[in-house]
This record gives sequence, structure tokens and C-alpha cells, in this order.
Amino acid sequence: MITLEQLSQLQTPEGSRLLAELREITPYAPVSIAIATRLRKTYPADLTIAAITIHDLRLKARAKFSRADEMWFTRDGLEQATSEAVANWRAQRYREFPEIVDLCCGIGGDLLALAFGTPGATLTAVDRDPLHLAMARLNAAALGVADRMEFIERDIRELEPGEQVAAFIDPARRSERGRMTLGESEPPLEWCVALANGHRAVGVKCAPGLDRARIPEEWEFEAIAIGTDLKEAMLWSPRVAQAINSATVIEGETVHQLRPVAGDPVAVRTPKTGDTLLDPNPAVTRAGLVEDLARTTGASKIDDRIGFLVSENWGSTAFARSLRVVESLPWNQRALNTRLRELGAGPVDIRRRGLAGDVDAIAKRLRGKGDRPFTIAMTRVMDQPWAIVCEAWPKIEQDTSGRRHID
Ligand SMILES: C[S@@+](CC[C@H](N)C(=O)[O-])C[C@H]1O[C@@H](n2cnc3c(N)ncnc32)[C@H](O)[C@@H]1O
Repeated sequence: MITLEQLSQLQTPEGSRLLAELREITPYAPVSIAIATRLRKTYPADLTIAAITIHDLRLKARAKFSRADEMWFTRDGLEQATSEAVANWRAQRYREFPEIVDLCCGIGGDLLALAFGTPGATLTAVDRDPLHLAMARLNAAALGVADRMEFIERDIRELEPGEQVAAFIDPARRSERGRMTLGESEPPLEWCVALANGHRAVGVKCAPGLDRARIPEEWEFEAIAIGTDLKEAMLWSPRVAQAINSATVIEGETVHQLRPVAGDPVAVRTPKTGDTLLDPNPAVTRAGLVEDLARTTGASKIDDRIGFLVSENWGSTAFARSLRVVESLPWNQRALNTRLRELGAGPVDIRRRGLAGDVDAIAKRLRGKGDRPFTIAMTRVMDQPWAIVCEAWPKIEQDTSGRRHID
């Protein structure tokens, strides 16, 4: 645990020298005991411990921040901080607002993105933890955006932002006793929602697994994934809501967003060989947009309560993994085993939706001696236990003549 006192010691020329030395000696790996012992002969013990903590946290923070080496973190502050990719995306919703308040700013993950995403806006950062607030201030200064910011150390419940001020809130979901139970936060969700007071622009970060019954009417629920990793969710007040539900998938620099699509109910049918099986991204499932994905891709459902989709057309979408259906049969492990042997199966990966069973044990039993890897959707088709044997679609490549061919 780093203290405010240690943080200010690290700002002295001696502290900066020590941090620079650590970066030079061990730029990619945490500080070893041998290095720590050697440095303690030159620098005060307390300063050395603090510098090592910051150095090691900066290494970890590189997974979330492109300029982590210039930033300041506590372990808790880093774990709770929003990664740059997600923070940059949602900061865009604040572009039209000249005054923004980041309530519960922590070490400033979202605050920095809000500053970069809203040039010209003034920002107020509030946190009741003096250490986090001090780090947010240092981080804003290190990245050159502190001049547009005010920092307030206070319980956010004591503040009353002006009606025109847009608010971003990332309430704490852990306390000194550890992670809070799902749906709990400090301040509680109901307090955060009440801040909208009917018309204020408010975004509240929440757990993706939040009980949907707690989402207020006319607020948007946005589920956000980086690749196939469902990271978090947001609640957007009516003033900034763009849909009732949305699923956001971030792939590197590209952001894909799926919103509800009006249309007739989606047809249900049995998958067949040659179809494409779509295994929706968890953000799509979480946002309740599986039918909407079916409408945008022209796919059908395989069951009214199951998230897998099938399509006659080959196609790739950022919102689902696409696999080629090799075989579609009622779930019977013996029959499945026989068919997999005939197909020359090697390792199998099981994707389970709607059927109970120990996935690892089943995958072990079904694994063949061949070299053809399969993914098996263990699921229900029109309420019957079903197996859909799939494999990756061959890669489509572009040759030098510009023609596309399948290898
Ligand atoms: C999840 S973290 C914020 C992370 C931040 N969005 C980021 O990306 O770095 C939550 C923060 O809320 C602060 N906090 C919790 N309850 C608070 C309250 N009632 N008033 C002010 N700050 C509070 C905690 O000190 C903690 O720093």
C-alpha cells in the first residue's frame, strides 16, 4: 500500500531518479529481490518500497493504458480503472457537453478519456479517497490535460452539480472487505440514477450481470466487450440514451455497435450441414439482442430460448463467431463419438447453451485421434437436446490479382 506521503516523496528529484533507474534496469519484468536489495543501499528504504510498487503497477497497467509508464496507480485503483479502449469509446457521448463531472474518478482512467474526448469542455473530478484523487491529478498533469480540470475531495453525495452539467459515475464495486455482491455499489445504483433528475445527461458504469429489472425505464443498457471478453456495462439516462439496449464490441481501433432492429419474429429451424452457426458475442447476449443480430444477418434461431443462430449464407460479423456446420444431430454421445471418428476428429471444444453437463469431461471423451479440430455446440434445437458439429470456415485470402479465393 502506498501512502500520500510516499507519493509526494516520489515527486522529488530523488524519487524521479529512482523510478527512472528502475525503468532502465528492469523495463519489462517486476523488480527482483536482488535489485531491491541493491537499490536499498543507495536510496531510503521507504522510498525504495514505494518506487518498486509504482514501477510494478505501471508494468501491469500497460495492458490498460498506452501511457502507463507516466502514470500513478494504487493496486485497487488500477484494478478498478477503466481501460483506455472502453473509456475512449464512451467518452464520445459527452462530446456535446461543455461541463462534465466525473464522480468517483479513482486514479482517473475515465477522467483522462473524457478530457481527450471532449476538447474544450471543463471537467470536475471528485473522489473521497485523497490518494486516488492525488493520483488522478498527477495523471492528468502527466498527460497534459490538468489545466481544464478541478479536483474535489469529497463524498459525492454532498455535491449538487448544476442542471446542465453532464455526469459520469463509476461507483465503487468493492470495499475494504473485498468485492461487493452483484448489483451492490457505493454509492448505490438508485442514488446514481436519481442524479439524472429526469433530464440530466448521466452515464453510470455497472456490472454486466446487473438484474435487468433494476434498469429504469427509458434508460439505455449498453453491454461492452473487448473482443469476446465481456468487460462491463453502462446505463445511460434518457438525455443521452441512443436505444433501449445496445451491444458494443471493440476490436483494436474499431468499434462495432448493435442496436435493436425492428422486424417480424425470427424463424426457428433445425441446422443442417453447410449452414453457418453464429455463436453471439457475450455483449449481444447480455444486451438481449440475439434476435436483432438474426435480423441484421438474415439468420434463423434454432430454438426460442437458445442464443445460437444459423444461416444459409456464409458471412462474418463482429457480433458473433461464425462456424461451418459439418453435422447436426440429436444429442447422443455414442452416436456422436462414432460420427466424430468417421470425420477424423482430433481435439474438440464444447460450447454449451441450454444443456447441462461437464464440458471438460465431455470434451475429453469425444476427443479423437485424428487431426481435425471441431467445435461442438451442445444445445437444444426446438427443445430437443442436440449436437451441432462445427469447424472454422476456411480463411478467405486475396491473391495478388485481386481475386478472392478460399484455401
Ligand atoms: C471504480 S473506482 C473509479 C475508477 C475510475 N472510473 C477509473 O477509471 O479510474 C471508484 C472510486 O469511487 C470512490 N468512491 C466510492 N464511494 C464514493 C463516494 N461516496 N464519494 C466519493 N468517492 C467515492 C472510491 O474512492 C474509488 O476511487
